[in-house]
Amino acid sequence: MTNTIYKHLRFASMLRLYNGGMRKAIWSVILCATIFLGPGPLGSETMSTPRYQEGQLLRPEGYREWMFVGANYGMGYTEPDGTKAAKPATFHNIYIQREAFRQYKETGKFPDKTMLVMEVVRPGTNASINRQGMFQDNAIGIEVALKDEARFPEKWAYFNFIGAGGKILSEAKPFPKDACWKCHNEHAAVDNVFLQFYPVLREARAKK
Ligand code: HEC
Repeated sequence: MTNTIYKHLRFASMLRLYNGGMRKAIWSVILCATIFLGPGPLGSETMSTPRYQEGQLLRPEGYREWMFVGANYGMGYTEPDGTKAAKPATFHNIYIQREAFRQYKETGKFPDKTMLVMEVVRPGTNASINRQGMFQDNAIGIEVALKDEARFPEKWAYFNFIGAGGKILSEAKPFPKDACWKCHNEHAAVDNVFLQFYPVLREARAKK
C-alpha cells in the first residue's frame, strides 16, 4: 500500500517536473535541433546564378531577398540642359546576391556570376499622413549588371527589363558596350560597380 502511494507521489512529482522546467528544457532542445539542422545555415546558401534562353538573360527572381546595398533618388548622369523636359525622378534600389556580397566582403572582388539588380521605383508624396518628403511607391521594373566572365569578353554586361511603355520583360539582350559598359567602366569606383553610391558595399570593405 505505502509502496503504491509512494509510486503515485513519484509519478506526480515527475509530472510536475515535466510541466515545469523539464517541458521548457525539452522544447529548447527540439528548437535548437531545428535551427541547427533546419534549412541550412546562412553561409551555405547556393548563389542564384544567371539563367539564359537563346542568348537572352531571363529576369532574375527573388532578388528582394538578396542583400540590399543602396538606394538613390533622382540620379541623372548628364547636366540638365534645359532643352529637354527632365525625366521624372525615380528611386533606385540596389540588391546583390548574399553569396556574392560575402565573397566581396572577404576578398574585395566581385565573384564570377555576380548580379546587381537595380529596381526602379516611382516616388510618392502627399498620401496617407505624408505631407513632406518622398516615399517609395510602386516598382517600375529592374535593370541588371551581370559579371559572367566566360560569356562576355568585357566580363560585365548590362540588361534592362523595362520595356517600351513600362512593359515588364521576362528576358533581355545585353546592351552594346558603348551604351552602358563604357560609362560604368570609366566612372565606377570598383570593378564597374558604382560603389561610391552604395554605402553598404563601401563600408563592408572599409572595415577590413
Ligand atoms: C553615363 C553613365 C552611365 C551609363 C551610360 C549607364 N549607367 Fe548604369 N549606373 C550609372 C551610375 C552613376 C549608377 C549608380 C547610381 C544609380 O544610378 O543609382 C549606375 C548603376 C547601375 C546599376 C546598378 C549596379 C551598378 O553597376 O552599379 C545597373 C544595373 C545599371 N546601372 C544598369 C545600366 C544599364 C542597363 C545601362 C545601359 C542601358 C546603364 N546602366 C548605363 C551610370 C551609368
